Amino acid sequence: MEAVIATHGDGVWEDWLLVIGEEVSTKNKAFVLWLTGLSGSGKSTIADKVYDHIAVNGQKVEKLDGDVMRGFFPSTGFTKQARDEHIKRVGFMASRLEKHGVIVIASFISPYKEARQFVRDMCGNFIEVHISASLLECERRDVKGLYKRARAGEIKNFTGIDDPYEAPDNPDIFVDTEKETVDESVSKILNHIRQYI
Ligand code: ADX
Repeated sequence: MEAVIATHGDGVWEDWLLVIGEEVSTKNKAFVLWLTGLSGSGKSTIADKVYDHIAVNGQKVEKLDGDVMRGFFPSTGFTKQARDEHIKRVGFMASRLEKHGVIVIASFISPYKEARQFVRDMCGNFIEVHISASLLECERRDVKGLYKRARAGEIKNFTGIDDPYEAPDNPDIFVDTEKETVDESVSKILNHIRQYI
């Protein structure tokens, strides 16, 4: 059987390989690992560890983190509109990096389902990870002292206090940082992404 295979569209190759019965390899495929969860749930800690595991293989990988990003762009606010714009902006950046073969590990509260879906739709391979911990536990940890300040009314629109968090209904990966150790949560994520790295 002869066929002309156009090489300019990834999907064409993959369809053709499926036609001739070859397994499509997902190895060395970039992806966007999107960590969502309350402040203090453990997103950055887990992102750092997953990053180290991927980087050690010499893979191109970039971390995008809410606190770091906001450090560079301090005027980014916390209203729904400001958060949506911020998430769409970083999501766009993540999708561009992914397109050029860079694995992206993004950790943002990203409290709104619709904005996360917007990012999913922009990316080729979007893996949503819900980093779950109850509000009670995040408040108990209060690593940055922000929950205390939010309760005192010094910070407005604080996620979980006077602003909503819309948990994913069906995340690709669910980790519970109240029940699991950091290493257990990291292993769970690594097991899931092993097919790509
Ligand atoms: S997001 O909602 O827009 O995705 P992002 O992840 O970038 O949030 O930033 C969250 C970080 O900003 C928190 O970890 C916390 O350190 C800090 N922060 C300051 N004010 C708030 C607030 N009102 N709500 C949530 N986080 C806040």
